[in-house]
Amino acid sequence: MKVTKAVIPAAGLGTRVLPATKSMPKEMLTIVDKPAIQYIVEEAVNSGITDILIITNRGKGIIEDHFDRSPELEERLLASGKKDVYEEVVNISRLANIYFVRQKETKGLGHAVNCARSFVGNEPFAVLYGDDVIIGDDPACGQLIRAYEKYGKSVVGIKSVPEDSISKYSSLKVEHIENNLYNCTDMIEKPKTKEEVLSLYSILGRCVLTPDIFDILDKTEPGAGGEIQLTDAMRTLARTIGITGVDFTGKRYDMGDKLGILKATVEIALQNPVLGAAFKEYIKQIAAEL
Ligand code: UTP
Repeated sequence: MKVTKAVIPAAGLGTRVLPATKSMPKEMLTIVDKPAIQYIVEEAVNSGITDILIITNRGKGIIEDHFDRSPELEERLLASGKKDVYEEVVNISRLANIYFVRQKETKGLGHAVNCARSFVGNEPFAVLYGDDVIIGDDPACGQLIRAYEKYGKSVVGIKSVPEDSISKYSSLKVEHIENNLYNCTDMIEKPKTKEEVLSLYSILGRCVLTPDIFDILDKTEPGAGGEIQLTDAMRTLARTIGITGVDFTGKRYDMGDKLGILKATVEIALQNPVLGAAFKEYIKQIAAEL
């Protein structure tokens, strides 16, 4: 079955990015000239996704506004002859069919994904974490969809993380299949001891799930941090059917972390066709003074 639906959980509290996230969702923090979540929606669309459900919560109406038309602004842009900016602004609302649902309590990523049940129905679907921006020529979500189409199992995007930070991530038991593809047979969220670490491979930012995840999520008790963890539900799939891991190409930026936001801004600005050259000169000048 073709994967055409995606879910973007964007209902977290963003406590690691306070005070910026007191009233501004981290998913709306800007990288150069676009909010983080627009990069993520564009990645989904470039991967063949046509329908996107964004999971929001109180105070995140600004996300809905961003993907809506903005008649007053559009009129002004047209009247002042700014046709290019006008097109860019209107195109945001045409990217995909975008739906919203609220996660009424912040009970974790697993709980957020479970809010997508009626949107998803009985189809496989992609999940793109709202605070993980991945930039690359081959969209990461599309790489996972291809692995789903090949093996027919749920898929997780994986990357090796440094040993001293694995306790902040999930840890996966993996066997190599071919190229950048792995079979994942077990996983643990935020391993507390060295013995609990299954490997330095962790799930980062993207997955494609089969709809059987919802029945498992219904039965998943709160885990690490008292939250309903998506990893705990995926572990059941890994241990029974198995999950495919894709060590995806592309650079991932963690918008849930202050240093991650700074890195995203600098690196994506350097690649910007209009600003890149001038910004590079500026960075060189600053670096020489350090
Ligand atoms: P994180 O755990 O990184 O987000 O969730 P957080 O809870 O906002 O982080 P901190 O620790 O307080 O800074 C990964 C993704 O899942 C979403 C977040 O918005 C983020 O995009 N999420 C998390 C939800 O939608 N609902 C939740 O209950 C938790």
